[in-house]
Amino acid sequence: MQSLRVTKILRMGLTLALIAFASSPALAEKPGKAAAKKAAFDATACYQCHAPIKAFHADGKHKSVGCNSCHDGIDKHMGDAKARPTTKVDPAACGACHAKQFETLYTMNWNKIARSEKSQATGPSPNPAWEKLMIPHGFTKEHNVPRSHAFMLMDQFVVDRAFGSRFVPKDGWQYLTQPGGNFKVNDMVKDQYPDNADHKPFKPGTAAAANPVCLSCKTQDHILDWAYMGDPAPTAKWSRSSKVVELARSVNHALNCFFCHDPHSAGPRVVRDALIQALSRPEKDTLWHKDKDGAKIDIKNLGVRGHTRKIALLDRYDTKLQCGQCHVEYNCNPGTDLENGKAIGMGDQRTNHFPFKDVTQIAKHYSDLKFRDFKHAITGAMLWKGQHPDVENYYNSKHQKAGVECHQCHMPKVKDKKTGKTYTSHWQTSPRNYVKETCLNCHGDWSERQATYVMDSLSARYQGKARKAEFWLTRMVDKFEEAKGAGVDDSVLNPVREKHYEAQINWEWWTASNGAAFHNPEAAVDSLNKSMAISQEAIKMLEDATAAKRGLAAK
Ligand code: HEC
Ligand code: HEC
Ligand code: HEC
Ligand code: HEC
Ligand code: HEC
Ligand code: HEC
Ligand code: HEC
Repeated sequence: MQSLRVTKILRMGLTLALIAFASSPALAEKPGKAAAKKAAFDATACYQCHAPIKAFHADGKHKSVGCNSCHDGIDKHMGDAKARPTTKVDPAACGACHAKQFETLYTMNWNKIARSEKSQATGPSPNPAWEKLMIPHGFTKEHNVPRSHAFMLMDQFVVDRAFGSRFVPKDGWQYLTQPGGNFKVNDMVKDQYPDNADHKPFKPGTAAAANPVCLSCKTQDHILDWAYMGDPAPTAKWSRSSKVVELARSVNHALNCFFCHDPHSAGPRVVRDALIQALSRPEKDTLWHKDKDGAKIDIKNLGVRGHTRKIALLDRYDTKLQCGQCHVEYNCNPGTDLENGKAIGMGDQRTNHFPFKDVTQIAKHYSDLKFRDFKHAITGAMLWKGQHPDVENYYNSKHQKAGVECHQCHMPKVKDKKTGKTYTSHWQTSPRNYVKETCLNCHGDWSERQATYVMDSLSARYQGKARKAEFWLTRMVDKFEEAKGAGVDDSVLNPVREKHYEAQINWEWWTASNGAAFHNPEAAVDSLNKSMAISQEAIKMLEDATAAKRGLAAK
């Protein structure tokens, strides 16, 4: 029945398309006139062939929004299904009807400085500890504190560790005046080597560590050209192993709206494939699986052009999952197989992987996965490099257990001054920028001063513990060098290397995190203290062995 219809439609082709465009009254009055004008579109013909889209669209909040609001080239497509329509991935396409959410998403936070290395004396992981503990990892080339969402893609292009200085800002350092906004990255940067796609450092002091997976957590411009997990597929232009320079040249937008909102149903969702994979792992071992109040997910297999792509619809907004598409620990880079010591390249699915577990489980997780990021240059220990596990830290905090979500502190409800209507500010920034609309909303008897005093104090307490953990960890590394020099052998050094792995995790996890001092003060300090204790055990092992060697030598 269905296939009969399809053939008929194919034959009718253009005629049907014309009818489709002519019918149906305007449905959408709000939000904005543009909506009403665009909505004169009957999707019946499209639904015949695109049943999954119908299921999203026909009864959803976007039912009045015409397919032509977001897809061009539809006339041709109706005549020839293989003539691929284009899809607007620019957030401005959504902004045409949702102006306030669009404007606020790319708001500038002038308090957050660009190119501000975490390893500065006042940064979250100051030197000399940082370099000594991370040597020779690529992040020692440049590792900055986060700034406004508007820049997530741009900053990735120009940071010294990603493209080896291939991409530079077109206007030189004047790019620092860019006041946020929804801009196209490739309009802002110049590719200094347009005639090749070599991925290598072009300048000393830089590294070329970017790859297609790490771009997928800044933009989803390529959503229709990427198969599930970035596995290679004939119909998908890009994969984990694609030339990252070519992918970079083809993407433009930071944080597309459809990371969090399904464009067809307008319902909440997530799209990051490795998160969807973690949530559907047969082990059922993630923090989400253990969160009885977490959103229910409904994973859909889509992909009309031959490869599978997946999205997960949520039964309500759960920002732990939505922000958790990026603000998590994930592996997005090549590494070493722990079992056979062989290099793991981008062809291996482990290069696109979310544990979605907390710090107490992570050492074992990567050992079970048989994955390590890098070999420490001094101790030779096989170590892990963290990526911002902000969501994992937030789970099981007091606020989380009380049912508070990320967006209640980072996306407050505000009033549109012109219309008086309430909307959700999409300026995801420090709550310091809107203490009244966030903290004081619930802690009604506090002043702004009290709320920021709490944030400052928790931050100070945390920084103190982190510095202590660094002292003991770097001392352990120094003692290791001394022991090795004294001739202590692998029967002692190997168990110490294991301790290095664990102590490093319980420190690095936190320096890679953002806001952990506040999000979960208990977990952070317990873990930093644990790091210290493990370093001290290792130091004792090294000192004893060194003394024994020297004692022998003295005899
Ligand atoms: C006769 C069946 C048929 C009809 C009618 C039809 N489509 Fe399609 N559509 C297809 C097929 C088949 C593909 C996959 C084409 C390919 O493999 O390149 C496709 C692909 C698409 C894509 C591209 C997806 C991508 O991965 O880039 C979009 C968007 C789309 N259709 C939208 C529409 C809209 C909007 C309408 C109604 C105006 C419509 N289609 C009507 C069969 C149809
Ligand atoms: C042509 C206008 C138009 C465009 C373009 C548009 N929307 Fe909408 N959107 C609407 C209308 C109309 C509604 C229904 C409003 C209502 O029910 O209050 C809506 C509802 C929504 C909602 C649901 C709000 C709720 O109450 O649950 C979200 C989320 C949303 N849109 C996101 C998006 C995103 C993301 C895009 C771009 C991919 C987009 N919209 C593009 C008109 C549009
Ligand atoms: C697509 C990935 C992605 C998603 C989804 C995402 N973020 Fe971010 N976020 C980033 C990146 C990358 C940065 C740093 C950008 C830079 O430095 O250029 C950042 C920066 C931030 C900052 C610092 C901004 C400032 O003004 O200093 C906050 C706060 C933040 N994110 C919170 C959130 C919250 C809350 C959510 C969910 C509602 C979220 N993010 C969703 C990737 C993401
Ligand atoms: C990182 C996730 C994320 C991204 C990206 C995102 N939103 Fe939202 N959006 C949310 C959350 C969370 C809510 C509010 C949930 C709540 O409080 O009910 C929301 C609410 C909305 C609503 C409902 C009306 C309102 O103001 O509460 C609309 C419309 C909307 N977003 C449009 C957009 C548009 C347009 C974009 C891109 C310019 C966008 N969103 C990008 C997470 C996101
Ligand atoms: C508000 C914007 C918006 C509207 C309205 C919209 N689309 Fe899409 N569409 C997108 C985006 C963005 C994608 C990319 C995939 C995604 O986000 O899941 C997409 C993807 C698709 C695909 C590819 C699906 C697949 O299996 O990979 C098809 C087919 C499609 N749209 C058809 C339609 C049809 C038919 C309509 C009208 C009934 C429609 N779209 C309305 C934004 C929209
Ligand atoms: C109860 C309030 C609250 C909740 C809920 C909350 N945060 Fe935060 N967040 C904060 C505070 C306070 C800071 C520290 C801000 C500062 O010191 O400027 C912060 C900092 C951050 C930062 C670093 C910002 C920067 O400027 O470096 C990110 C990223 C972040 N939070 C993301 C999240 C995510 C993701 C969630 C949900 C899993 C979340 N937050 C939940 C209050 C909250
Ligand atoms: C949506 C409501 C909500 C928001 C927004 C919120 N809080 Fe809370 N906060 C709570 C609740 C409820 C508790 C009590 C949790 C408990 O004791 O079980 C709490 C507890 C706390 C605690 C004690 C935590 C502990 O570990 O002992 C501090 C400190 C705190 N909030 C500070 C803040 C600050 C600062 C902000 C703004 C950045 C903020 N809160 C935003 C609801 C909120």
